[in-house]
Amino acid sequence: MVTPYNYLSCRLAAVHSRHSNQYIKMSSQAEIARARIQQAYHDIGEPVFNAAEFTLIKVFIDHKAFDVIPDEGDIAVSELAAQIGGSEEVVDRICTFFISGKILKSTAPGRVAHTEKSRLYKFDQPTAWLYIHMFNNVFRSFAQMPDYFAKYGLASPQSASVTPLGLAHGYDNRPAYDIIVANKVVHKGFNEALRELGVMYSLKGVYDFSWMQDALASSSRPAIVDVGGSHGLALRDAVTNNRFIPAERCILYDLPQVIENTTKNVEKDQDEALQKVQKVGGSMFEPYPEAVQGALIYQFRRVLNDFPDEDVVRTFQTVRKAVAPDSRILIIEEMLNPKRIPMNVGLDICLMCAAGKRRNAAMFSELAARAGFRLNAEFQSVNGQFDDFGVLEFVVA
Ligand SMILES: C[S@@+](CC[C@H](N)C(=O)[O-])C[C@H]1O[C@@H](n2cnc3c(N)ncnc32)[C@H](O)[C@@H]1O
Repeated sequence: MVTPYNYLSCRLAAVHSRHSNQYIKMSSQAEIARARIQQAYHDIGEPVFNAAEFTLIKVFIDHKAFDVIPDEGDIAVSELAAQIGGSEEVVDRICTFFISGKILKSTAPGRVAHTEKSRLYKFDQPTAWLYIHMFNNVFRSFAQMPDYFAKYGLASPQSASVTPLGLAHGYDNRPAYDIIVANKVVHKGFNEALRELGVMYSLKGVYDFSWMQDALASSSRPAIVDVGGSHGLALRDAVTNNRFIPAERCILYDLPQVIENTTKNVEKDQDEALQKVQKVGGSMFEPYPEAVQGALIYQFRRVLNDFPDEDVVRTFQTVRKAVAPDSRILIIEEMLNPKRIPMNVGLDICLMCAAGKRRNAAMFSELAARAGFRLNAEFQSVNGQFDDFGVLEFVVA
């Protein structure tokens, strides 16, 4: 029987025998075109499927699907779908994708089980919170970057109010932190990710607070004001590792909603050191309340890299009005040092989403000088293979 396919093959064979050279040329051109497309699919496939994987892991985290899969043994996809309130059809498609990417494993047709990777996405695991934060505030912002640059020009965002993050959340003109704080779900993801990261940046063995002892003994002025201190983890680190710093003379200073949230958590956790710490709501861009003036130390831990240069200058100018002549300003940040930790270069692009940037001592010094501060000392934690955080100590110039 002559089918359309073998009719075509016969015709091609005939043409081939008549014009074999021409055919070979055509066929090799077709092969080249096919190879080129295959290469293009391969090149684009990897980032696209990585993006799909990231997105679908976020979807499964949101629906607590990784929590429903038992720690031991497996579960039928239909049962998983029923428990998370999804259609079996879509849950099956997502599971098939995860099996092919080795996120989940298949134990029998229609059944799935955890891998070591997928266990990290269970509710309240640090990885899950980082996924939620990175998805909401970074990944969604990346997708807005082409539109952002088309609209505002190819330049780093100059204002924290006009950012790719803003576009990702539907705002043309609203400060990135307002956006995060105003959305309960986004704020929770951000906060929990911060809490997980917070313990990484201990100053023990990096910065020596002992110079404070005389000044603390001879006055009742505030010891440390932790500006943008969030959960208070930096203050807890300072007071527990330096018993001469009285917790009640330390002040956690952050946006009012953040202070409200931290106060609740501190009470709930019965955290003794943080219960004693004073908690004051306010903004580093507004004049500091009297209670927060004249401290020995004003520290900004992982705050300023979230802001563009002009805001950093504004922050220095505002705190300059609150300091005493002998106050010291500590900037505790991951420093931009691409030759040591290449990941910082990637994180610099993440910060760009909200108009922030990674900086080094020279960059901070230039901004601080515009507000009348000079770099007094630099301390670097060089032991980590992952992070590159350091402390810059500024004094009044
Ligand atoms: C990346 S978090 C760092 C938190 C904390 N310092 C730490 O190291 O874990 C930045 C903090 O800056 C605070 N922040 C943002 N804008 C602020 C402002 N205008 N005034 C005071 N704090 C602010 C945020 O609420 C948040 O707690």
